[in-house]
Amino acid sequence: MIQLIDVHKSYTKEHETIKGVSFEVHEGQIFGLLGPNGAGKTTLMQMIATLMKPTSGQILIDGLSADKSLLEIHRKIGFLTNEIKLDPLSTPNALFEFFASLYDIPKNEMKDRRDESFARFGISPFAEKRIRELSTGMKQKISIAISLIHDPPVIIFDEPTNGLDILTSKQVTDYLKELRDKGHAIILSTHIFSVAEELCDDIAVLIDGSIVAQGNVEELIAQTQVNTFEEAFFKIYVENHKE
Ligand SMILES: Nc1ncnc2c1ncn2[C@@H]1O[C@H](COP(=O)(O)OP(=O)(O)OP(=O)(O)O)[C@@H](O)[C@H]1O
Ligand SMILES: [Mg+2]
Repeated sequence: MIQLIDVHKSYTKEHETIKGVSFEVHEGQIFGLLGPNGAGKTTLMQMIATLMKPTSGQILIDGLSADKSLLEIHRKIGFLTNEIKLDPLSTPNALFEFFASLYDIPKNEMKDRRDESFARFGISPFAEKRIRELSTGMKQKISIAISLIHDPPVIIFDEPTNGLDILTSKQVTDYLKELRDKGHAIILSTHIFSVAEELCDDIAVLIDGSIVAQGNVEELIAQTQVNTFEEAFFKIYVENHKE
């Protein structure tokens, strides 16, 4: 569903931020990107979401490339990043309606989807409040609901549980599991080990723009000959970081 083939990205001539990354994410799979600050996770996800072009290499979504099939790809992907801000003066209802209209979702269908996702995330009592009055967690849940408004088969979530309390975080991780079980292909980044451990079927450890280890939790623990996933990550980090 998602295919990266030798993807490179340089923001400047002097430094290569992504140094030849390749991986695949399939239907019904959650793929995790784990790595220290500045490793290039957001850069990779922005390129997969077609917000930015790789300097070289190929990214295919369901076999399609952004060069030829940008609109088709946009209908297939849902993208969440904490760098996109909701209009502080708008309301959850108005935002949902606006984004639904961008995807040509008919009004009655929009209402059904809104009712379902607002009920799931406890947004309904806040539906007519201004965004600026809402808590971080509520804003994040609204962003999630909006990013999935068109029921995309491919989900690209950059730190989806960032800033969320344990209960809200569980609502989000439970939802992602449900979407995986329905056959969506999901890629997420996180700094939270328990989230990666619980959700990810395949994990790539990204350090300084390269994937230095990949596998499921048990495989990464076995590869590094330690006892816990956190220890595995630290060992991989110590063995692979440069500075
Ligand atoms: N627009 C940009 N122009 C120049 N350099 C950038 C730009 N965006 C990111 N970078 C650099 O690219 C590198 C990777 O950044 P990126 O945000 O992708 O990392 P990340 O893995 O998402 O980090 P974090 O865990 O902190 O979110 C960093 O060194 C960053 O400074
Ligand atoms: Mg990031």
